[in-house]
Amino acid sequence: MYKIVVEGGNLLEGTVRINGAKNSAVALLPAAIMADEPVSIEGLPNISDVDILTSILQDVGCKVEQEKRKVTIDPVNVDASHLPNDKVKKLRASYYFMGAMLGKFKEATIGMPGGCYLGPRPIDQHIKGFEALGATVTNEKGAMKLKAEELRGARIYLDVVSVGATINIMLAAVLAKGRTTIENAAKEPEIIDVATLLTNMGAKIKGVGTDVIRIDGVEKLHGCMHTIIPDRIEAGTYAILATAIGKDVLIDNVIPEHLEPLIMKLKEVGANIELGDEHIRVKRSESLTGVNIKTLVYPGFPTDLQQPLTTLLTQAEGHSVVTDTIYSGRVKHVDELRRMNANVKVDRGSIYIDGPSRLQGATVKASDLRAGAALIIAGLLANGTTHIGGIEHIERGYEHLTDKLLQLGANVRKEKIAEDDILLF
Ligand code: EPU
Repeated sequence: MYKIVVEGGNLLEGTVRINGAKNSAVALLPAAIMADEPVSIEGLPNISDVDILTSILQDVGCKVEQEKRKVTIDPVNVDASHLPNDKVKKLRASYYFMGAMLGKFKEATIGMPGGCYLGPRPIDQHIKGFEALGATVTNEKGAMKLKAEELRGARIYLDVVSVGATINIMLAAVLAKGRTTIENAAKEPEIIDVATLLTNMGAKIKGVGTDVIRIDGVEKLHGCMHTIIPDRIEAGTYAILATAIGKDVLIDNVIPEHLEPLIMKLKEVGANIELGDEHIRVKRSESLTGVNIKTLVYPGFPTDLQQPLTTLLTQAEGHSVVTDTIYSGRVKHVDELRRMNANVKVDRGSIYIDGPSRLQGATVKASDLRAGAALIIAGLLANGTTHIGGIEHIERGYEHLTDKLLQLGANVRKEKIAEDDILLF
């Protein structure tokens, strides 16, 4: 078991390059099995979620070749019956194999997906979509079994705007007969990225990025080459971090438009941000002001940046309220920030912050990926040394985090946890 150790106080300076989007990558990889020829994806992030999915692809019979950041998946020999339960359980996004397998083979059996615990994360809208397309969905010894004689296009209204359900239904529908309409669809950039890959493979999809997506089914999909979009959440994490403790940080390889909801909020807090075509430059501000935030579906403020932003708001003058309308249970970072002397509490589903607080180094644990990012930022700001456990969560989504921070001048390292200290985390 490892921990990240952060000595707080260094101002950060330099350039950090953002990698391909995790939440695109985890859907693009399962989507690749739907082609009848090899599919190449360029720019995949080097994170453990991608490693696990690549390994699942190999287990189901894909030939996977990696050349630097380009991965080529040859799905010609895929066998739908071999999804390995132990790996499927390790991440949430393995549910994209449901849509991909159902679309291509008209059947799939898959264990319940795992992932970060952020409160209840039902998949009823995915199932509603598959059933509308003609599949029967049954529970067999804890695994989900999906089967259809044939998939037929349908009109599907999502009761909840869901990234996962929108992508999963799109995957199943591209090889269905006739037209599928997804209404109240999610609009996240990652959905557009997946639709771009599918379109390059020969799918007929219109309306992605709006709340009505129309898909005309095709007989088969061919190979292609696709370059993934940059990770707006990784970029946003560095923008928040630089607002807190950046002397001058250039965040490169971003699509600034994807970061607009964050940038607007950071400017309200008092951040110094300059926008380039493919980069943003952030300098720390001497005086930060508390703000209120509600997370919403895209293009609203992303839930995935709520936790890192909470840490920043502990440095802002006055009162802030953060309400996560997507995942009300995404508050496990709060107790850890309190250990570090932040004046922050959860009350009736919202996070209340009174700042500024002088954060103190402590031993804390990342309960999930973005809580981990929140604690790293807190450690960089704190007086003294912070020991952060649970880093397997952080490694699921942030590529080479300690190396990137070291390059910016942070005093941070990854260390093995001593036997006697394991119970501290
Ligand atoms: N929901 C339902 N029923 C469903 C599906 C979703 O009620 O069938 C609810 C969820 O409980 C939640 C809301 O709808 O309250 C939105 O969930 P969504 O389906 O959009 O989330 P997801 O697809 O499971 C993705 C990202 C998350 C990100 C959310 C919201 C992936 C692999 N995960 O999850 O990313 O927080 O969208 O933007 O794409 C992260 O990167 O740290 C992360 C957790």
